[in-house]
Amino acid sequence: MARLDVIETFHGILFPGHLHTQDSLQLALKFPFQDTDIVIVSYPKSGTTWMQEIVTLISSKGDPHVSQTVPNWARAPWLEHHYFAETSPTTPRVITTHLPHHLLGPALQGSKAKVIYVSRNPKDVVVSFYHFHKMANFLPEAGSFSEFLKQFLEGTLHYGSWFDHIKGWTSQTGTMNNLLPITYEEMLLDPHGAIKRVSSYLQSPLLEDEVNNCVKHCSFSSMKSNKMANYSLVSQEIMDHSKGSFMRKGEIGDWKNMFTEEQNQYFESIFKSKIEEEPKNTTL
Ligand code: A3P
Repeated sequence: MARLDVIETFHGILFPGHLHTQDSLQLALKFPFQDTDIVIVSYPKSGTTWMQEIVTLISSKGDPHVSQTVPNWARAPWLEHHYFAETSPTTPRVITTHLPHHLLGPALQGSKAKVIYVSRNPKDVVVSFYHFHKMANFLPEAGSFSEFLKQFLEGTLHYGSWFDHIKGWTSQTGTMNNLLPITYEEMLLDPHGAIKRVSSYLQSPLLEDEVNNCVKHCSFSSMKSNKMANYSLVSQEIMDHSKGSFMRKGEIGDWKNMFTEEQNQYFESIFKSKIEEEPKNTTL
């Protein structure tokens, strides 16, 4: 098992070296998207795995066979990971990416690939990411939460700045017809409505029973016990399952259990200065 401690810096952004190489990142930027592709885009910890499950279940009309027998990274592989080139494409291809718009936008230009942009309250993102750093051996030591929060707000964590990511992608909602913005919060508060919105966008209409089956099989408890979605298949060396669970809490507002009042004020002041106006689909 090599490269766990290697960091790839690409266009000023850090990426875990065991998943990314300069070549794999470079190839992602030149990827020939097809109009039939479905592209799930997110900043880490925003509900990526959940959307992979939702898209899989919509394609199978709520039947969980595929989502329970094929690992999520095989049914919706990450475009920028080094193994992407070896994955066997399904039709339509479901592709996942954490790349920011300023890097991936040019490859998508002119394509009718259906992009789904998943975002989440950044306070919950940073808390989830912090806990994930504790179990993911391919990420740096989490350190103290105060220090981690500072790095998140400065945009120096792996995968780059949350602010650049959200602003880059949500600023496209007016110009890209083929971009569906959706939030983690919407998915949690109204899973039925969220699934119908995604299925209609994907032009994959579902009967009411099929929507109900999707809701059932993509619930937090179903996914937590689904080995093909909960990352328990990943070796202990890569993810230390004794230090946490990928399907950790699945809640809105867990930041309130982590942030001190001072950290919250610090967050708010940076947030206001970095986002002149709150982007659509981002709530605090
Ligand atoms: P928490 O750490 O807050 O629990 P990603 O897939 O983008 O890395 O996001 C992971 C986060 O999404 C984790 O958040 C995880 O628990 C949550 N999540 C995954 N599936 C979920 C579901 N079905 N319902 C609610 N939250 C879910």
